[in-house]
Amino acid sequence: MIYSRIIGTGSHLPKKVVTNHDLEKILDTDDQWIRDRTGIRERRISSAEEPTTVLAENACRKALEAADVDPGEIDLLVLGTTTPDLIFPSSACLIQKKLGLPDCGAMDVNAACSGFIYALSIADKFIRCGDAKKVLVCGAETLSSLINWNKRETAVIFGDGAGAMVLEASAEPGILSTHIHANGNYADLLNTEVGVSRGFEGLKDNDGKAELMMKGNEVFKVAVRTLGRIVDETLAANNMDKSELDWLIPHQANLRIISATARKLDMNMEQVVITVDRHGNTSAASVPLALDEAVRDGRIKRGDMLLLEAFGGGFTWGSALIKY
Ligand code: UT7
Repeated sequence: MIYSRIIGTGSHLPKKVVTNHDLEKILDTDDQWIRDRTGIRERRISSAEEPTTVLAENACRKALEAADVDPGEIDLLVLGTTTPDLIFPSSACLIQKKLGLPDCGAMDVNAACSGFIYALSIADKFIRCGDAKKVLVCGAETLSSLINWNKRETAVIFGDGAGAMVLEASAEPGILSTHIHANGNYADLLNTEVGVSRGFEGLKDNDGKAELMMKGNEVFKVAVRTLGRIVDETLAANNMDKSELDWLIPHQANLRIISATARKLDMNMEQVVITVDRHGNTSAASVPLALDEAVRDGRIKRGDMLLLEAFGGGFTWGSALIKY
């Protein structure tokens, strides 16, 4: 049996910090509301010199360094992103060039906030079937580029960043299972209605800017219910009891959603890796950013049982159970 094992993690954040108090100056909002309703205190926002591929490149370099793996050894690069630098080539191809990877496969996966879990699931399958030995998996986003800074409903929520990991084929687990789902019936609740094959028509109604739209309250309710289901599915697939989990590494959309999932798993908040307070919602980057933080500060140790989960536009959702 071949498993994928995490042998190195890395992450990278843009330099600019935007606090809730900074947003109070440009929007009808307040720090207290943002902290109470989301758990966010501040977020990082990319400059023009820090597009998605630059954040991703830095996160990948740190993951390669932590794994002590040369770029030439990588067999596949899978990038979860909804905010690629270009329509094409894919951002994965641009990162491949920056990192000096060999002529390996390189692909973007667009599953919104679940993008990293989708990328991880694909990478795991390539390793399990024997087609790849070392895979670089990354989640990187600059959702700030889709934000209307006059709209408090979305402007206070999102941030930019990137997280990455190197997976290696191993006889020892490893990733025990991954689970991915989608339901396009919910496309209207969270989207950016601008696209190539529709002739960029959404731009005409919106001063030439693509904008992220979210019916937050409705997304919230489905997210809590769906994440409850996916953690049940993951534990059942592995014949495992929730008491065997050491760490929950959730998508960092909202502290109230994270707390609801932790409560369902009977986990105390000390077993949950939280970055939403400092990063906001970084979409596909949030899970690998949180994982890297807890690996580097020593909270997550070899042998720990980790449950990763995410939920996002599409809707998409997914999870991974990992013996670290
Ligand atoms: O990552 C992908 C998936 N995304 C998510 O999972 C996000 C899920 N949704 C959420 O996290 C929450 O719904 C939000 C944080 C986006 C919003 O929180 P909420 O408690 O659902 O607020 P709401 O949309 O129901 O709005 C409640 C009130 C409204 O005022 P009225 O109508 O009651 O007078 C809003 O206008 O809060 C108002 N409001 C704000 N007030 C101050 C909305 N945004 C703000 C704001 N500052 N930034």
